[in-house]
Amino acid sequence: MSRLRVGVIGAGTWGRNHVRTLASMPDVELTAVCDLSASVREKTARTYPGVLVTDSVQALLERVDAVVVASTARAHAALGLAAVRAGKPVLVEKPYALTVREAVELAEESDRLKVPALVGHLLEFHPVVDRLKTMIREGTLGEVYYLYSQRVNLGQIRPDENALWSFGPHDISVALYLMGEAPARVSAQGHSYLQRGIEDVVFLTMQFASGVIAHAQMSWLDPHKERRLTVVGSKQMAVFDDMAPREKLRIYDKGVDRPPEYGSYGESLAVREGDIWIPKVNNAEPLGLELGHFVKVARGEAPTRADAWDGVRVVRVLEAASRSMATGGGPVTVEG
Ligand SMILES: NC(=O)c1ccc[n+]([C@@H]2O[C@H](COP(=O)([O-])OP(=O)(O)OC[C@H]3O[C@@H](n4cnc5c(N)ncnc54)[C@H](O)[C@@H]3O)[C@@H](O)[C@H]2O)c1
Repeated sequence: MSRLRVGVIGAGTWGRNHVRTLASMPDVELTAVCDLSASVREKTARTYPGVLVTDSVQALLERVDAVVVASTARAHAALGLAAVRAGKPVLVEKPYALTVREAVELAEESDRLKVPALVGHLLEFHPVVDRLKTMIREGTLGEVYYLYSQRVNLGQIRPDENALWSFGPHDISVALYLMGEAPARVSAQGHSYLQRGIEDVVFLTMQFASGVIAHAQMSWLDPHKERRLTVVGSKQMAVFDDMAPREKLRIYDKGVDRPPEYGSYGESLAVREGDIWIPKVNNAEPLGLELGHFVKVARGEAPTRADAWDGVRVVRVLEAASRSMATGGGPVTVEG
């Protein structure tokens, strides 16, 4: 079978990882890279001779079978739309769009033209997140009570997206994926310390109709680098530490048991301090898994995961959270 010709639009700090990963995939031919920055183009052309390096989206679209968009967030939806209208399956980096209107337009156009427009929700491809999803589905953790995540570090301070839009798509997409539902209501508080109108620090709370609460702390103004998710269930608790070099998932056999004859007396609740175990999880790189999936979808060989409507659902939460933040943190209903 011939190799899929893939082009990348936006080869900056993150896009160059897409370029490198695609260039290493045996069933892919990295055919073209488009970037508005002359220095990025120069560096890319030096590393990948034989690849068309251009500042023209049109020139790229004419050469490729499928496209990855990793430009600045402002351009994501328009570039995704251009790819879909040219009949090229596209993977659009997060955030999928900067408004629900743009995200829905892209998803509807993708449906109408039957051209997939996936979203780069990388963590949905993380083997640990998949393992957690299986554990939740099989009831290993019991009933999920709540989850919370910390995504904090110092920099990269973005001039055109705040910490919510930069980090939030990861935590929101994981919470929606694990819970299998979208939140009914959100509230968020944030503050701009470094650049006027761009929040560096955001605390987001999502409330699901099932009663689950998911909280995310996001900041690029923090002394620690943390990428941690804790899921608290009625039987067990799970901690996913993505900064750990190995053994990223730990399961705590801890909880509070309620005897069957439980009445209203607090003393009959029994705290259980059990073992901690470390499941063996495949350590494949999520970006390779995400792009491998994209290639299969572009070839029509696999049903789509992290599809256009997944992108829309997360942008709906981001937009509702922005509205909440603008009012000082009041609850906002998530549309759709
Ligand atoms: N999935 C992940 O884990 C992950 C991680 C980091 C960043 N990202 C996302 O990837 C995107 C890019 O992030 P980055 O850190 O590489 O930013 P960056 O600013 O370093 O790079 C963006 C590049 O896109 C180019 N560009 C912008 N508009 C363009 C256009 N219309 N046509 C062609 N090129 C264009 C710029 O010249 C620049 O080189 C952001 O949306 C970011 O949120 C995702």
